[in-house]
Amino acid sequence: MKPAILLLEPMMPEIEKQLDAAYTVYRAATPEQLEKIAGSIRGIATGGGTGVPRAVMDSLPHLEIIAINGIGTDAVDLNEARRRGIHVTTTPGVLIDDVADMAMGLLLSLLRGLPAADRYVRDGAWGSNPPPPLGHRVSGRRLGILGMGHVGQAVATRARAFGMPVSYTDRRDKALPGYAFVPDLPTLAHHSDVLVVAASGGAESRHLVNRQVLDALGPDGVLINVARGSVVDEAALVAALADGTLGGAGLDVFEHEPDVPDGLRTSPHTVLQPHRASATVETRLAMGNLVVGNLAAHFAGQPLLTPVL
Ligand code: 8YV
Repeated sequence: MKPAILLLEPMMPEIEKQLDAAYTVYRAATPEQLEKIAGSIRGIATGGGTGVPRAVMDSLPHLEIIAINGIGTDAVDLNEARRRGIHVTTTPGVLIDDVADMAMGLLLSLLRGLPAADRYVRDGAWGSNPPPPLGHRVSGRRLGILGMGHVGQAVATRARAFGMPVSYTDRRDKALPGYAFVPDLPTLAHHSDVLVVAASGGAESRHLVNRQVLDALGPDGVLINVARGSVVDEAALVAALADGTLGGAGLDVFEHEPDVPDGLRTSPHTVLQPHRASATVETRLAMGNLVVGNLAAHFAGQPLLTPVL
């Protein structure tokens, strides 16, 4: 009999096909449906943002493995997984470049005003209406990075090629040649024109980017977030954009996805994406293959490919 797994977030059709071939896959179960199948579920495949609600985890007495289709573990209770001996895997290594590309895409879009200029051409306003406002030069603009892990460093490499001086903050000085370490975030923000959030989510980083940090970035400063919405105090961000104390924000992630506050959706100073930094065919295929490989290894009693627990 095929093991039963719960798929909490859709994956690419080619990946789901492989899952369907190897497992009895339950998708998007309501609490009532879940109750009926709970006893049979041995694995979960889920996204990094979606994770596994604690109530779902608690309702599955025979859960053995959670395979996250992403690198973030903040939406899975790792302590509880450890306590119950549930394995957890992620997809490290394969999505870093895409996420860094998204950070640069948001940065360029925002500073050069690409969405408004695109609308201007699309709407047939070119030739009749006054042109959109001038953008801002990217080269020479000082970049601060919060979280200098793999993604942060990939953003730094790209920013360097764009002629941006790079500083960063992290829990410790990583002694990276060419990048200045700044021990505290408000100081980094004060000395940056662009702040890119590339830190992991979770309790430790919650609301690190608060009103004080946004004020330090200032009216000409912009915030880019490709990490987790929870790292930014979103209410403070909305307020800072509304009163002009922050210049703009490029956001791929939000505090309460898929809900995005009106203040962000209607602002002319934001560029928004629906949590898509790793959403390329190549990367989602590589991620999906790791999910499939980790589940296969587990159910074959082999070592996991990319375990967290
Ligand atoms: C994905 C992510 O969009 O890696 C993560 O933790 O949040 C993103 O790469 C997500 O995992 C797919 O839902």
